[in-house]
Amino acid sequence: PAPGWSLDADVVIVGSGVAGLTAALRCQAAGLATVVVTKARLDDGSTRWAQGGIAAALDEGDTPEQHLDDTLVAGAGLCDEEAVRILVTEGPGAVRRLISTGAQFDTDDTGVIHLTREGGHHRRRIVHAGGDATGAEVSRALVEAVRARGVRTVENALVLDLLTDAEGRAAGVTLHVMGEGQHDGVGAVHAPAVVLATGGMGQVFSATTNPSVSTGDGVALALRAGAEVSDLEFVQFHPTVLFLGADAEGQQPLVSEAVRGEGAHLVDADGVRFMVGQHELAELAPRDIVAKGILRRMLEQDAEHMFLDGRHFGRDMWEHRFPTILAACRAHGIDPVTEPIPIAPAAHYASGGVRTDSHGRTTVPGLYACGEVACTGVHGANRLASNSLLEGLVYAERIAADITRERESGGLRARVPQPVPYADRPAHPLLAPETRFTIQRIMTEGAGVLRSAASLAGAADRLERLHAEALSALEDHGKTAEPGVDTWEATNLLCVGRALVAAARLREETRGCHWREDHADRDDAHWRRHIVVRLNPDRS
Ligand code: SIN
Repeated sequence: PAPGWSLDADVVIVGSGVAGLTAALRCQAAGLATVVVTKARLDDGSTRWAQGGIAAALDEGDTPEQHLDDTLVAGAGLCDEEAVRILVTEGPGAVRRLISTGAQFDTDDTGVIHLTREGGHHRRRIVHAGGDATGAEVSRALVEAVRARGVRTVENALVLDLLTDAEGRAAGVTLHVMGEGQHDGVGAVHAPAVVLATGGMGQVFSATTNPSVSTGDGVALALRAGAEVSDLEFVQFHPTVLFLGADAEGQQPLVSEAVRGEGAHLVDADGVRFMVGQHELAELAPRDIVAKGILRRMLEQDAEHMFLDGRHFGRDMWEHRFPTILAACRAHGIDPVTEPIPIAPAAHYASGGVRTDSHGRTTVPGLYACGEVACTGVHGANRLASNSLLEGLVYAERIAADITRERESGGLRARVPQPVPYADRPAHPLLAPETRFTIQRIMTEGAGVLRSAASLAGAADRLERLHAEALSALEDHGKTAEPGVDTWEATNLLCVGRALVAAARLREETRGCHWREDHADRDDAHWRRHIVVRLNPDRS
């Protein structure tokens, strides 16, 4: 469809989590004409669901250097050290600026910010809010600030594709908007700077902690635009997700790492603490090690789940420190005060994404990425707990600074978008909405926590068949499914699923959160490097 309406701006930010809204506030404060577009409502993304908190070296005895060391160890040899150094040194200031913006974090009786611990951290360095509702507070503060400062926003705006000018520079985005009055239908925001902050792709798997909007839209857009995408094989499975049955689908309740940080134990059906002796930090080992420890014990005992035992916290601590988790467990008939919580790993975070430099610039000029959609290099093969909100803050600020510099040097000029190539027909074979569930099952069976050459080949074949069917329908009738949010989401999930499986097949080793049964060891001689994916120019 050809755009039916358009807006002009200096910068269009796609997504409204911690990264998108931080970028928006900084761009607006710098005097840039800023528009935020978001697929659902402003607070509907993953940020709102974050529990544990934001990691930053704020404690007197802590230093960015120690935070750097823990991040590099978790990243299993694939972090970009310079990107991590930026994260940990600029992190404390970014958290303080978030507090100035209005976010309120939990403090002790003397008013000092309370810090908790999570897996892979050798110290207490996680700020949190509302006990275990950190993301909700961050989202509240940022949404209120964006509204108070009059940043222009368009909600219910599903991003379709990047617009580029004749030189291949970003010129804006096309969008499908519903229910927003004057901006309804397919339209465009024209802007010489485009910031992707669309979050993750957890919905590519059947069970995930991610909300239903996390369908990899930004990575899919970037791939179609010819940008480089890196490290997609490193999907982090959170070790402790409330177990609601082996065939539970969609968003599942998270049980924060902070519960282990405050002393809860992982136990098997016999009550044995199986992580003790597996790693010096036991239950607080980096996330991939704990997820593997759980999976291994599940396989050994032919069990569908393990347990997290926090009965020794007592009612008071559960009610005050972990009210969100307590409520979620009780809503499913489990009382953590009197019984261990059944848990199993589920898809949680994409450590890879659209490749950027240290200013958030992708390989397409004028296109930036930050937050979960991006691969800045800070997470390597396995993100350290609570580094994600921090990354969103720090790199969003760096992007706003870069766009501001670009304006000052005269480089931020309106670009003339090339005519949309698919004005009379869809450029992409749009998939029927129900294909989403087929893709999720294929990915879970073939490319989940435990992978092998055979399982990945099976997944690749089945995904290719879906793609080929959609392509031939496009060739036969010039048309596939009717364009709409569900069809675009299914289309994007197939796009990122294919790229993820291709990367996972190539990496013949086990590293970080990529676990190959047929290549059980880390292979630094061959694989201490990144897998970068780019779509062919014919967009196949
Ligand atoms: C959690 O609270 O366990 C999630 C923290 C994170 O994913 O960084």
